[in-house]
Amino acid sequence: MNQDDRTRYRTNVQAEIDGVALYRALAAIEEDENLSGIYTRMADTEERHADFWREKLRDLGEDSAPTHPGWRTRILIALGRAFGPQFILPTIASREQLDSARYREQAEARRAGMSGDESRHARL
Ligand SMILES: [Fe+2]
Repeated sequence: MNQDDRTRYRTNVQAEIDGVALYRALAAIEEDENLSGIYTRMADTEERHADFWREKLRDLGEDSAPTHPGWRTRILIALGRAFGPQFILPTIASREQLDSARYREQAEARRAGMSGDESRHARL
């Protein structure tokens, strides 16, 4: 059971790290200051989510957690830089919907209200 939790927490940390990297990149690319500020706040939310899951991993005695965005995320960021935020926003929205659905099935995430955060991000 712990092994499963470990894998699940690691997957969650990775998803949140990907989110942080994406939103920080969007904030940097976006020229509209309002929008850029929104992306920064979304990145901050994902940062808190990542902390939450890192903490869960530590509780299981696991001190190694993912630290870098995955290759899909790095490609998305490169595409966003080349073609603008609009080009990658649909992909990001569907990712957030997936994350939200995954969190709806996880008791700890439900308790922390994360599913709502992710579906709010998807709408934005
Ligand atoms: Fe998140």
